[in-house]
This record gives sequence, structure tokens and C-alpha cells, in this order.
Amino acid sequence: MAKAASEQTGWGIRRVSLQNRNPKAVPDAWERAALEEFDRRAAAGESPATLEKGEIVADGDRKEYRYMKALPVQQICVACHGPADKLKPEVTSRLQTLYPADKGTGYAIGQIRGAMTIRKAL
Ligand code: HEC
Repeated sequence: MAKAASEQTGWGIRRVSLQNRNPKAVPDAWERAALEEFDRRAAAGESPATLEKGEIVADGDRKEYRYMKALPVQQICVACHGPADKLKPEVTSRLQTLYPADKGTGYAIGQIRGAMTIRKAL
């Protein structure tokens, strides 16, 4: 879905996390800094649902617009991202099969699970 949206719009769209489940969801340096900033801002009292960051990033003479929006853990998310010992056995076994290096469990409602990240060359 994200891939199709990227192809239609020229925007690159994906999800990343500091504790990724999908092996492809590792943040790059800009994304990591933004995720760490979101965690700091949430700890200082900002609502995770409002956390976002947009910036024009220059690399030599190439410029791109980058944007991230935090994805807070809601009730429905804990079925698959909650504490490992609280997941249903069938969820645990699917996750172990599909994502043996999964780091995406142990979350409580209100924490920041990761972020949507989009970028476009200018
Ligand atoms: C039915 C199980 C399930 C539920 C419910 C679920 N997720 Fe996930 N989530 C996954 C799986 C499997 C992946 C890895 C595959 C992928 O990237 O989609 C994943 C990946 C992610 C990622 C990408 C980063 C990473 O760790 O790989 C984010 C961010 C994320 N989920 C956030 C959420 C949020 C927020 C909710 C609730 C609104 C949620 N998920 C609900 C199963 C689930």
C-alpha cells in the first residue's frame, strides 16, 4: 500500500521505529533523531498524537522535504505490540515465525510505537 502510494505521488512513505519489528523499519539518522525528539517531547508532557516534524534537508546540492508523524499506541495496538507475556499464543507464534528479530513488543497505551515518515526530492 505504501509502495503504491509512493509510486503514484512521488513521495516516499514508510513506517519506522526505534524498536522495529519489520527488518526494513530501521530509522536512518534523521528519523532516529526525530523519534528521540518525539520521546523527549512526550516525556515533557506533549500529547503523542500531536507530535510531528517537517524539515527541508540539504545534502550537497540535493534538497528534500522530510516529514514525520508519531504513531501512538492505542488500545487495538497492544494485541500485537503489548508486553510479550500478554500476547495471545497464536500472535506470539506468528510473530516468532515471521519476525524472529522482533523488537516491537512491550508497549503500553500512550507510548510512541514509531512514526510514519515521508520524503520528497525538491
Ligand atoms: C494484528 C497485529 C498488529 C496490530 C493490531 C498492530 N500492529 Fe503494528 N505491526 C504489526 C506487524 C506484523 C508489523 C511488521 C510488518 C509491518 O511493517 O507492517 C508491524 C509494524 C508496525 C510499525 C512499523 C515499525 C516496525 O516496528 O516494524 C509501526 C510503527 C506499527 N506497527 C505501529 C502500530 C500501531 C500504532 C498500532 C495500533 C494503531 C499497530 N501497529 C497495531 C502488527 C500489528
